[in-house]
Amino acid sequence: MGDVGDVVNMGDVGDLHRLAIPSPNIWDDPDTYELENDGVDPERAIEAAMRAVQDWSGLAVLDVGCGTGYHLPRFAQTAGHVVGVEPHPPLAHRARERVTLLPSEVRQRIEVVEAGAQQLPLADASVDVVHARWAYFFGAGSEPGLDEVERVLRPGGVAFVIDNDATRSTFGGWFRRAWPTYDPLAVQRFWRRRGWERTEVDIRWSHRTRADLERVVRLEFAPAAADAILAEHEGTEVDYAVNLWWHRRG
Ligand SMILES: C[S@@+](CC[C@H](N)C(=O)[O-])C[C@H]1O[C@@H](n2cnc3c(N)ncnc32)[C@H](O)[C@@H]1O
Repeated sequence: MGDVGDVVNMGDVGDLHRLAIPSPNIWDDPDTYELENDGVDPERAIEAAMRAVQDWSGLAVLDVGCGTGYHLPRFAQTAGHVVGVEPHPPLAHRARERVTLLPSEVRQRIEVVEAGAQQLPLADASVDVVHARWAYFFGAGSEPGLDEVERVLRPGGVAFVIDNDATRSTFGGWFRRAWPTYDPLAVQRFWRRRGWERTEVDIRWSHRTRADLERVVRLEFAPAAADAILAEHEGTEVDYAVNLWWHRRG
Protein backbone atom coordinates (compact mmCIF):
# COMPACT_ATOMS: atom_id res chain seq x y z
CA MET A 1 0.00 0.00 0.00
CA GLY A 2 1.02 3.54 -0.58
CA ASP A 3 4.23 3.06 -2.52
CA VAL A 4 4.39 3.85 -6.18
CA GLY A 5 6.66 1.48 -8.07
CA ASP A 6 9.91 2.69 -9.55
CA VAL A 7 9.67 5.78 -11.70
CA VAL A 8 11.28 4.67 -14.93
CA ASN A 9 13.81 7.03 -16.53
CA MET A 10 12.19 7.96 -19.82
CA GLY A 11 15.27 9.69 -21.26
CA ASP A 12 14.72 12.31 -23.96
CA VAL A 13 12.40 15.06 -22.77
CA GLY A 14 11.99 16.15 -26.41
CA ASP A 15 10.13 12.94 -27.18
CA LEU A 16 7.88 13.42 -24.21
CA HIS A 17 7.16 16.98 -25.20
CA ARG A 18 5.80 15.83 -28.57
CA LEU A 19 3.22 13.75 -26.71
CA ALA A 20 1.71 16.84 -25.13
CA ILE A 21 -1.63 18.17 -26.30
CA PRO A 22 -1.42 21.98 -26.30
CA SER A 23 -3.41 23.48 -23.43
CA PRO A 24 -3.33 27.20 -24.25
CA ASN A 25 -5.03 28.23 -21.01
CA ILE A 26 -2.45 26.89 -18.57
CA TRP A 27 0.52 26.92 -20.99
CA ASP A 28 0.15 30.58 -21.91
CA ASP A 29 -1.02 31.98 -18.59
CA PRO A 30 -0.41 29.67 -15.63
CA ASP A 31 -1.00 32.54 -13.19
CA THR A 32 -4.58 33.06 -14.37
CA TYR A 33 -5.08 29.27 -14.41
CA GLU A 34 -3.99 29.28 -10.75
CA LEU A 35 -6.65 31.90 -10.08
CA GLU A 36 -9.15 29.69 -11.89
CA ASN A 37 -8.20 26.67 -9.77
CA ASP A 38 -8.56 28.81 -6.63
CA GLY A 39 -12.16 29.55 -7.58
CA VAL A 40 -13.18 26.05 -8.72
CA ASP A 41 -15.38 23.90 -6.52
CA PRO A 42 -14.97 25.62 -3.12
CA GLU A 43 -17.08 22.88 -1.50
CA ARG A 44 -14.68 20.25 -2.87
CA ALA A 45 -17.62 18.27 -4.21
CA ILE A 46 -15.38 16.55 -6.75
CA GLU A 47 -13.08 15.17 -4.06
CA ALA A 48 -16.11 14.07 -2.00
CA ALA A 49 -17.54 12.22 -5.01
CA MET A 50 -14.17 10.54 -5.58
CA ARG A 51 -13.90 9.54 -1.93
CA ALA A 52 -17.36 7.98 -2.10
CA VAL A 53 -15.89 5.58 -4.69
CA GLN A 54 -12.37 5.20 -3.30
CA ASP A 55 -10.59 6.96 -0.48
CA TRP A 56 -6.83 7.44 -1.02
CA SER A 57 -5.60 7.63 2.57
CA GLY A 58 -2.27 5.83 2.74
CA LEU A 59 -2.45 4.84 -0.93
CA ALA A 60 -0.41 5.60 -4.04
CA VAL A 61 -1.96 8.35 -6.16
CA LEU A 62 -1.04 9.36 -9.71
CA ASP A 63 -2.16 12.76 -11.08
CA VAL A 64 -1.93 12.65 -14.89
CA GLY A 65 -1.56 16.04 -16.56
CA CYS A 66 -0.95 17.66 -13.19
CA GLY A 67 -0.09 21.04 -14.73
CA THR A 68 1.47 23.25 -12.08
CA GLY A 69 0.74 20.59 -9.46
CA TYR A 70 -2.22 22.39 -7.91
CA HIS A 71 -3.79 19.19 -6.61
CA LEU A 72 -0.65 17.39 -5.49
CA PRO A 73 -0.51 18.86 -1.95
CA ARG A 74 -4.20 18.09 -1.44
CA PHE A 75 -3.70 14.43 -2.26
CA ALA A 76 -0.54 14.31 -0.17
CA GLN A 77 -2.46 15.42 2.94
CA THR A 78 -3.53 11.79 3.34
CA ALA A 79 -2.04 9.70 0.51
CA GLY A 80 0.97 7.47 1.10
CA HIS A 81 2.70 8.64 -2.07
CA VAL A 82 1.78 11.01 -4.90
CA VAL A 83 3.23 11.21 -8.40
CA GLY A 84 2.37 14.12 -10.70
CA VAL A 85 2.96 13.50 -14.38
CA GLU A 86 3.14 16.52 -16.69
CA PRO A 87 4.54 16.62 -20.25
CA HIS A 88 5.00 20.39 -20.64
CA PRO A 89 8.42 21.15 -19.09
CA PRO A 90 7.67 24.69 -17.79
CA LEU A 91 4.62 23.38 -15.95
CA ALA A 92 6.46 20.37 -14.53
CA HIS A 93 9.04 22.89 -13.29
CA ARG A 94 6.35 24.97 -11.58
CA ALA A 95 4.86 21.85 -10.04
CA ARG A 96 8.27 20.94 -8.59
CA GLU A 97 8.65 24.48 -7.25
CA ARG A 98 5.25 24.21 -5.55
CA VAL A 99 6.30 20.95 -3.91
CA THR A 100 9.58 22.47 -2.73
CA LEU A 101 7.65 24.98 -0.63
CA LEU A 102 5.72 22.31 1.29
CA PRO A 103 6.63 21.08 4.78
CA SER A 104 9.17 18.26 4.46
CA GLU A 105 6.83 15.56 5.77
CA VAL A 106 4.43 16.30 2.89
CA ARG A 107 7.12 17.10 0.31
CA GLN A 108 8.87 13.77 0.71
CA ARG A 109 5.74 11.93 -0.38
CA ILE A 110 5.40 13.79 -3.72
CA GLU A 111 7.34 13.52 -6.95
CA VAL A 112 6.81 15.22 -10.30
CA VAL A 113 7.83 13.56 -13.56
CA GLU A 114 7.88 14.97 -17.10
CA ALA A 115 5.81 12.56 -19.17
CA GLY A 116 2.61 12.22 -21.13
CA ALA A 117 -0.34 9.95 -20.44
CA GLN A 118 0.61 7.84 -23.47
CA GLN A 119 3.87 6.70 -21.84
CA LEU A 120 3.55 6.71 -18.08
CA PRO A 121 6.95 6.30 -16.43
CA LEU A 122 5.63 3.94 -13.79
CA ALA A 123 5.85 0.21 -13.19
CA ASP A 124 2.94 -2.10 -13.95
CA ALA A 125 0.34 -2.40 -11.16
CA SER A 126 2.02 0.25 -8.98
CA VAL A 127 -0.78 2.80 -8.40
CA ASP A 128 -4.00 2.65 -6.37
CA VAL A 129 -5.73 5.83 -7.56
CA VAL A 130 -5.34 7.73 -10.84
CA HIS A 131 -6.69 11.27 -11.13
CA ALA A 132 -6.84 13.29 -14.36
CA ARG A 133 -8.60 16.64 -14.19
CA TRP A 134 -9.32 18.48 -17.40
CA ALA A 135 -6.26 16.80 -18.90
CA TYR A 136 -5.73 14.60 -22.01
CA PHE A 137 -8.71 12.27 -21.39
CA PHE A 138 -11.40 14.08 -23.37
CA GLY A 139 -12.95 10.98 -25.01
CA ALA A 140 -11.95 9.60 -28.43
CA GLY A 141 -8.21 9.83 -28.97
CA SER A 142 -7.32 9.12 -25.36
CA GLU A 143 -7.10 5.33 -25.87
CA PRO A 144 -3.26 5.15 -25.59
CA GLY A 145 -3.42 6.91 -22.21
CA LEU A 146 -6.26 4.67 -21.04
CA ASP A 147 -4.19 1.59 -21.89
CA GLU A 148 -1.37 3.05 -19.81
CA VAL A 149 -3.69 3.80 -16.90
CA GLU A 150 -4.90 0.19 -16.97
CA ARG A 151 -1.30 -1.02 -16.98
CA VAL A 152 -0.14 1.03 -13.98
CA LEU A 153 -3.26 0.48 -11.84
CA ARG A 154 -3.15 -2.28 -9.27
CA PRO A 155 -6.03 -4.78 -9.42
CA GLY A 156 -8.82 -3.09 -7.44
CA GLY A 157 -7.36 0.36 -8.09
CA VAL A 158 -9.54 3.16 -9.42
CA ALA A 159 -9.03 5.71 -12.20
CA PHE A 160 -10.90 9.03 -12.14
CA VAL A 161 -11.32 11.45 -15.04
CA ILE A 162 -12.90 14.87 -14.44
CA ASP A 163 -14.32 16.74 -17.41
CA ASN A 164 -17.06 19.21 -18.29
CA ASP A 165 -20.66 18.05 -18.55
CA ALA A 166 -21.70 20.38 -21.35
CA THR A 167 -25.29 19.08 -21.28
CA ARG A 168 -26.08 20.93 -18.02
CA SER A 169 -25.48 24.11 -16.02
CA THR A 170 -24.81 27.71 -16.92
CA PHE A 171 -21.16 26.95 -17.63
CA GLY A 172 -22.23 24.01 -19.83
CA GLY A 173 -24.31 26.47 -21.89
CA TRP A 174 -21.33 28.79 -22.29
CA PHE A 175 -19.22 25.83 -23.40
CA ARG A 176 -21.76 24.59 -25.98
CA ARG A 177 -22.11 28.06 -27.45
CA ALA A 178 -18.36 28.55 -27.69
CA TRP A 179 -17.73 25.09 -29.22
CA PRO A 180 -20.88 24.25 -31.21
CA THR A 181 -19.31 21.18 -32.84
CA TYR A 182 -18.49 19.59 -29.47
CA ASP A 183 -20.79 16.59 -28.97
CA PRO A 184 -21.18 15.82 -25.26
CA LEU A 185 -23.31 12.75 -25.96
CA ALA A 186 -20.58 11.26 -28.16
CA VAL A 187 -18.16 11.74 -25.26
CA GLN A 188 -20.58 10.00 -22.92
CA ARG A 189 -20.90 7.09 -25.37
CA PHE A 190 -17.11 6.82 -25.52
CA TRP A 191 -16.82 6.28 -21.76
CA ARG A 192 -19.85 3.99 -21.58
CA ARG A 193 -18.47 1.76 -24.36
CA ARG A 194 -15.32 1.35 -22.31
CA GLY A 195 -17.37 0.39 -19.25
CA TRP A 196 -16.63 3.52 -17.18
CA GLU A 197 -19.12 4.76 -14.58
CA ARG A 198 -20.35 8.34 -14.38
CA THR A 199 -21.03 10.42 -11.28
CA GLU A 200 -22.63 13.76 -12.10
CA VAL A 201 -21.21 16.47 -9.87
CA ASP A 202 -22.58 20.00 -9.46
CA ILE A 203 -19.87 22.45 -8.61
CA ARG A 204 -19.45 26.19 -8.99
CA TRP A 205 -16.82 28.72 -9.77
CA SER A 206 -16.65 31.22 -6.96
CA HIS A 207 -14.16 33.98 -7.61
CA ARG A 208 -13.04 36.61 -5.12
CA THR A 209 -13.83 39.59 -7.31
CA ARG A 210 -15.59 40.39 -10.56
CA ALA A 211 -12.18 41.21 -12.06
CA ASP A 212 -10.99 37.68 -11.23
CA LEU A 213 -14.06 36.10 -12.84
CA GLU A 214 -13.56 38.24 -15.96
CA ARG A 215 -9.89 37.28 -16.15
CA VAL A 216 -10.74 33.58 -15.93
CA VAL A 217 -13.59 33.79 -18.48
CA ARG A 218 -11.20 35.55 -20.86
CA LEU A 219 -8.65 32.79 -20.32
CA GLU A 220 -11.12 30.05 -21.18
CA PHE A 221 -13.07 31.64 -24.04
CA ALA A 222 -12.17 33.48 -27.25
CA PRO A 223 -12.70 37.27 -27.06
CA ALA A 224 -16.15 37.40 -28.73
CA ALA A 225 -17.52 34.52 -26.64
CA ALA A 226 -16.05 36.02 -23.45
CA ASP A 227 -17.59 39.41 -24.25
CA ALA A 228 -21.03 37.81 -24.71
CA ILE A 229 -20.75 35.79 -21.49
CA LEU A 230 -19.66 38.76 -19.44
CA ALA A 231 -22.35 41.01 -20.91
CA GLU A 232 -25.14 38.66 -19.83
CA HIS A 233 -23.73 37.21 -16.59
CA GLU A 234 -23.37 39.25 -13.43
CA GLY A 235 -21.46 38.61 -10.25
CA THR A 236 -18.50 36.47 -9.30
CA GLU A 237 -19.96 32.97 -9.49
CA VAL A 238 -21.31 30.47 -11.98
CA ASP A 239 -22.87 27.03 -11.58
CA TYR A 240 -20.87 24.37 -13.36
CA ALA A 241 -21.70 20.69 -14.06
CA VAL A 242 -18.91 18.17 -14.35
CA ASN A 243 -18.70 14.48 -15.04
CA LEU A 244 -16.60 12.33 -12.78
CA TRP A 245 -15.84 9.29 -14.91
CA TRP A 246 -14.39 6.34 -13.04
CA HIS A 247 -13.33 2.79 -13.50
CA ARG A 248 -12.13 0.13 -11.06
CA ARG A 249 -9.56 -2.28 -12.44
CA GLY A 250 -10.74 -5.88 -12.14
C1 LIG B 1 -6.21 22.30 -18.43
S1 LIG B 1 -4.70 21.74 -17.79
C2 LIG B 1 -5.17 20.97 -16.23
C3 LIG B 1 -4.03 20.88 -15.27
C4 LIG B 1 -4.34 20.23 -13.92
N1 LIG B 1 -4.93 18.91 -14.06
C5 LIG B 1 -5.24 21.09 -13.07
O1 LIG B 1 -6.41 20.74 -12.85
O2 LIG B 1 -4.76 22.13 -12.58
C6 LIG B 1 -4.34 20.34 -18.84
C7 LIG B 1 -2.97 19.73 -18.60
O3 LIG B 1 -2.81 18.54 -19.38
C8 LIG B 1 -1.47 18.50 -19.81
N2 LIG B 1 -1.31 17.58 -20.96
C9 LIG B 1 -1.22 17.88 -22.28
N3 LIG B 1 -0.97 16.78 -22.98
C10 LIG B 1 -0.92 15.74 -22.11
C11 LIG B 1 -0.66 14.38 -22.25
N4 LIG B 1 -0.43 13.84 -23.44
N5 LIG B 1 -0.63 13.62 -21.14
C12 LIG B 1 -0.87 14.17 -19.92
N6 LIG B 1 -1.12 15.47 -19.73
C13 LIG B 1 -1.14 16.25 -20.80
C14 LIG B 1 -1.18 19.94 -20.16
O4 LIG B 1 0.19 20.21 -20.33
C15 LIG B 1 -1.81 20.64 -18.98
O5 LIG B 1 -0.94 20.74 -17.91
